[in-house]
Amino acid sequence: MSPRRRPAVGTRLFARTVHGLEHVAAQELRERDCTVLAVSPRQLVLRGPAALLDRPPRTVDDLFHLVLAAPDPGPTKPDLVVLSRLLARAPLRAPDVPLVSVSASTAGRRTYSRHDVEDTVGAVLAARLGTVYVSRRDGRVPPPGAVDWRVTIDAHGVHIGLRGTRPPLHRRPWKVASVPGTLHPPVAAAMIRLAGVRPGDLVVDPCCGAGTVLVESPVPGIGSDLAGVAAARVNAHHRRDIAWLRADARRLPYPAASVDHIITNPPWDRQVAANGTVPEFLREWRRVLRPGGRLTCLTPWPSLPGFRTLARYPISLFGQHPVITVCVPC
Ligand SMILES: C[S@@+](CC[C@H](N)C(=O)[O-])C[C@H]1O[C@@H](n2cnc3c(N)ncnc32)[C@H](O)[C@@H]1O
Repeated sequence: MSPRRRPAVGTRLFARTVHGLEHVAAQELRERDCTVLAVSPRQLVLRGPAALLDRPPRTVDDLFHLVLAAPDPGPTKPDLVVLSRLLARAPLRAPDVPLVSVSASTAGRRTYSRHDVEDTVGAVLAARLGTVYVSRRDGRVPPPGAVDWRVTIDAHGVHIGLRGTRPPLHRRPWKVASVPGTLHPPVAAAMIRLAGVRPGDLVVDPCCGAGTVLVESPVPGIGSDLAGVAAARVNAHHRRDIAWLRADARRLPYPAASVDHIITNPPWDRQVAANGTVPEFLREWRRVLRPGGRLTCLTPWPSLPGFRTLARYPISLFGQHPVITVCVPC
């Protein structure tokens, strides 16, 4: 039987991703023996081995045990009754906990809010599980002991699940120090994959901030930043194979043609000022990259002068629309 025909086995899950990274996450999950059943904006439905969460995937934001998958209940408030009925009949296996919380997202025009969905699902869960539901309405934050349920409703249907990890996967335990404009770790993990980093490569992040790219990278590296590397050092206390130094990305202290990969998100005048330094960055990065070495960067810029683009991956991130560009000096 060919691998494509093999029946999907394992736990039913759904993963949430940054929009634009769905296919990167799908590739990582397939490498981890998962069967990806459906891909839609920001979401993947899959079957995966129970041990998946022992070493969680890096490129997804969050992973949930799928409890209910059904067609879109509809766009109007009375349609939420349909959702209640569906959930009331669904097989539920859930931990015995005193509190549950629900977080929902909806896509498309609907006459109900995400809080309406949360409260509908929360009421059914509380009744069926004999627990107390804590609403997020009016900005309330559920207490730490609450078990998180997730609901997504879009054109592809409704999916309801129980969070597989706590905290969410994108909140890395190592990331205790931050800087303005710090990178979302699953995006850093995706950039490393898209760059094509191989064992033995040297990766440099010349605008390293809190060190996210290099801490997510499986290979040794050097991180530098004009504003200092105190946050990066704290975050990378477990990584002896990364060197940190204060340096200007326009004058890097490395010989010409000595670096395999530059992977970075430089300042782009949103949270961190670029002050017209971009052309100088690009000139210096061309100098230190070895022939065939790659620059992989997250920026909103349509082109990177002096570099030939190999691939572009637009993403949506916190209301902005930057692009991961993989390129080589030309
Ligand atoms: C968007 S932040 C990078 C965040 C980082 N990737 C992280 O995960 O925390 C841009 C960084 O570029 C640094 N920077 C700005 N101008 C620089 C320069 N001329 N040389 C080196 N770093 C610079 C800033 O200090 C800031 O930390």
